[in-house]
Amino acid sequence: MSGNNQKLSEILKQHQTLVVVGGNWGDEGKGKVIDLLMGSFDIVARFSGGSNAGHTVFTPSGLKIVSHQIPCGLAQNKICVMSRGEFFNLKLFLQELEETKKVLLQSDDPHPGPLPEGKGAKKLADIYIDQQATLWTPYHSLFEAYIEATRDERKIGTTNKGIGPLEGVYKLRLSPLVGHLLDEKLLSHSIHALYKVLEPSLASLKGLDASIKIPLVEDVVRELLQDAPKIKDFINDSSFFLYQSLKQGKKILFEGAQATGLDAWWGTYPFVSSGNSVATGASLGTGLSMDNFPSTILVAKTLPTRVGNGPFPSEMWERQAAMAFTKEHPDLFTKGAARDGFLSANLEKINSGKASAAEISQYFQVLGDERGATTGRGRSIGYLDIPWLQYAIRINGPKYIALTRFDMLSGVKSIPVVVGYKHHGQILPPGKLPAAWELGDVEVVKENWPCFMENIGGISEADKLPTPAKEFLSKLEKHLGVPILLVGTGPGREAMVVR
Ligand code: IMP
Repeated sequence: MSGNNQKLSEILKQHQTLVVVGGNWGDEGKGKVIDLLMGSFDIVARFSGGSNAGHTVFTPSGLKIVSHQIPCGLAQNKICVMSRGEFFNLKLFLQELEETKKVLLQSDDPHPGPLPEGKGAKKLADIYIDQQATLWTPYHSLFEAYIEATRDERKIGTTNKGIGPLEGVYKLRLSPLVGHLLDEKLLSHSIHALYKVLEPSLASLKGLDASIKIPLVEDVVRELLQDAPKIKDFINDSSFFLYQSLKQGKKILFEGAQATGLDAWWGTYPFVSSGNSVATGASLGTGLSMDNFPSTILVAKTLPTRVGNGPFPSEMWERQAAMAFTKEHPDLFTKGAARDGFLSANLEKINSGKASAAEISQYFQVLGDERGATTGRGRSIGYLDIPWLQYAIRINGPKYIALTRFDMLSGVKSIPVVVGYKHHGQILPPGKLPAAWELGDVEVVKENWPCFMENIGGISEADKLPTPAKEFLSKLEKHLGVPILLVGTGPGREAMVVR
């Protein structure tokens, strides 16, 4: 075990549970943090989101797995729980399981986990899917397409996974549930009931685009029933399982999805996802009482990003332009001379103070390969945003912060950092935001913070960080009032400093 891992496992010994949540608008690198932490836990439980998420993790021998619905724990032989708070899409779940299985079967790990049959597996995989989790049907996605089509210029820019309708229909008490898959009558009844209510909207959608196919209820039910036996053994009362596991002294890592800014209640409504992404979502989503969650780690990106629409106060450039840039320049997002030349020319401009907003944004987008793991969409990028993080800290109450992608500031002389939001001429106190519809109008107050000319890429020991990098982190910590436990220094697994 490396010194770093030893240090971390000493710290994690104190925690029977730990909640991991995103501090910005997603894509903070929660997968990488979970990858590092989960060795110290027995169970990894997802409590929110669904197939809209994309977490990158690695098997013990370093094979890459991108998980969407299945908790990251599968990559490392952990028991995986998909709680009631997670939206369930059977078709995509089975695809993901197949893909994961393929990777794990290639792995040379002596114990690649229980998943591949024939390698000492007791059963196919240790996965628990809550019997009362909401169940996706094609009608959810079609209804989402209808809602987005009616929104005109205020579209959310969703991932098209039916997430909003999954939550909405549940709250309307019309949701098919995972457990219904085991009872044909129940399933057929719940899907008929849902279809009846959505029928006029689906007909309007067809009116907007005649090529759209609305499947028959009988076909939807039949398809689900065909696949249902494949997950029969996974369907369970996940909440009671977690409760018992805690009583037996098992350690559980609670994996959040999306982020504070995308939380349905505490994010930038209506430009949010529909799950409970903040730390309290762990209790809501799993049905475990709040006293089981004393510790949270907030994952914050040094330079936050956003996809889709909605306010992003520290954004460097224009959203649509930034998102389109990624699609229009695939060559810059592939290793090679074009990328290297682009990066060095832009960095030179940034350091001589001559770079435009577009050039600064493009430099960091390319450097960070800012493209979505689920949708492949380009991400718009912003400056480090302290008032936003102070709000995220107020909402999530973290014990620790994991600051990811700190190495992006390598070789940069100095960078603007947002240190305050001015609203109606007044600086807002730490932790306070204006109403969501006014957030886009705040005036951001920036300070120039010195960075570090040394390349810190891949550093994993705190002592090896150059002094200006250490000073940057201490200064940030003072503003946030929460210890920065982990600092990401590159894409590699070992590229994380434990402080
Ligand atoms: P939905 O979750 O598909 O409903 O999308 C709602 C908003 O959340 C859109 O702006 C999406 O781009 C954003 N979103 C959802 N999941 C993620 C994620 O995992 N990373 C980043 N953005 C996300």
